[in-house]
Amino acid sequence: MLLLELDRASAVPLYRQIIDSIVQLVDGGTLSPGDRLPPSRVLARSTGVHRSSVTHAYEELWALGYLEARPGSYSTVRRRAQRRRAGQPATPAFDWATRVVPAAREALRAVTAHPRVRAAADDPGLIDLSRITPDAQLMPGDAVRRSLRLALREEGPRVLEYGDPAGHRPLRQSIAGRLRTHGVEVTTDEVVITSGAQQALDLLLRALTRPGDRIAVESPTYLTALPLFRLHGLEIVEVPMRSEGMDLEILERALSRPRPPALVYTIPSFQNPTGITSDQPHRERLLALCERHRVPIVEDGFEEEMKYFGKAVLPIKSMDRRGVVAYVGTLSKIVSPGLRIGWIAAPSPVVEAVTALQRFGSLCVSPLAQAAVHRLFASGAYEAHLRRVHKAFRPRMRALIDGLREHLPRRGVAWTEPAGGYTLLLHVNGTRLGEEELHQRLLTAGVRLSCGRPYYPRAPRRPCFRVSIACASPERIAEGCRRMGLVLRSAVED
Ligand SMILES: Cc1ncc(COP(=O)(O)O)c(C=O)c1O
Repeated sequence: MLLLELDRASAVPLYRQIIDSIVQLVDGGTLSPGDRLPPSRVLARSTGVHRSSVTHAYEELWALGYLEARPGSYSTVRRRAQRRRAGQPATPAFDWATRVVPAAREALRAVTAHPRVRAAADDPGLIDLSRITPDAQLMPGDAVRRSLRLALREEGPRVLEYGDPAGHRPLRQSIAGRLRTHGVEVTTDEVVITSGAQQALDLLLRALTRPGDRIAVESPTYLTALPLFRLHGLEIVEVPMRSEGMDLEILERALSRPRPPALVYTIPSFQNPTGITSDQPHRERLLALCERHRVPIVEDGFEEEMKYFGKAVLPIKSMDRRGVVAYVGTLSKIVSPGLRIGWIAAPSPVVEAVTALQRFGSLCVSPLAQAAVHRLFASGAYEAHLRRVHKAFRPRMRALIDGLREHLPRRGVAWTEPAGGYTLLLHVNGTRLGEEELHQRLLTAGVRLSCGRPYYPRAPRRPCFRVSIACASPERIAEGCRRMGLVLRSAVED
């Protein structure tokens, strides 16, 4: 006889109370594997519960693996593996860490070696010039909200389904149109949408490189690209950055070697971290070199539209008559990194391969986000936001350049002055102090910069720091420069 205590006054439905009681009896050992349960008709009668509720409870207990039933026979308690209770320590059958493959271990090492710089929100006195996430205050929340609403209203539930792995076609069209304003002539079919520029790089590497291949990169370069290259088993060939862009003589030597690089990775505009923009002749020479040696270029245009001063310089892709360049773009630095919208503009065979990889990797980029971003472009909200971004960042960059000129020692500290973007790199040449020690002194003085070491494939001889205007007002940037000046003047004199 199965005795169940049911509470008719409870808000918990009776069938649920039956389930919970039987689970307790099994887990507590009162009912053992093989024990028979009364037929539903009998239990219904003894508890005064409708038979359909008992049947419902038994069905759920079968689904949960507590009961088994043979056709035409009783339900019995099933022999089942012991469930692990919350807080109960488990003895592992094997060590998962040893199952992690070397490439993933390398990625883990990279993460722990360079922990993400936490926001300085908890210390309002500290001026944070380390981050290049766009200022959340400047992100166009209202316009994004309107675009999301419009996308749902106009495209309906379609945007809640899986989308085309190549991307939402109207957005691809919008991107192709936007690229045209930078002199890049590509068709809609030559554009594929990705989850940010980071995924674009990953997909390009998957499509175009094999483990053991070489990749030529500017040194320093975007720090998160370096572990990604290593993750793909690539050998990094360093090409030093000069004030006018990557050193083309050294690149030419690398391209002429018996085993030339499979790719050249470059950030020609507002390079991260140096802020350097190469000029048109430099771009032409780089393109001609790669054409001659038949080595593809991956052009990372992550801040293409963030030009504040001087004449526009066109992307390398705009001169690419012979299809050498795979161009990467993103909305992360202008609109929002959380939308995760980036793209690749490249010759069709690349787009097709990347689309196939996307299909099996992440199926597609969020159709809702893509449909909303298309409306940001189509409604003119993007253009209006871009003007606001320029208006906000021009005075910030001005404050940085003026502040550095005013407060930093000219002897012993060097930098180049960017015409746009978020960052520049300070090289501290005239000191015996190490980067860590200087970083600590800067923090003590109330300013946070980003240490330069992780941007280099191999450690540079002298300390350097990336300075970013992304998240500080012109006044805070000016004060940050004053604080930098105090530390660096004494360090250079030390
Ligand atoms: C040079 C460069 N490329 C690509 C990315 C990745 O951007 P996304 O957020 O679009 O993946 C970043 C991010 O900071 C970057 O600095």
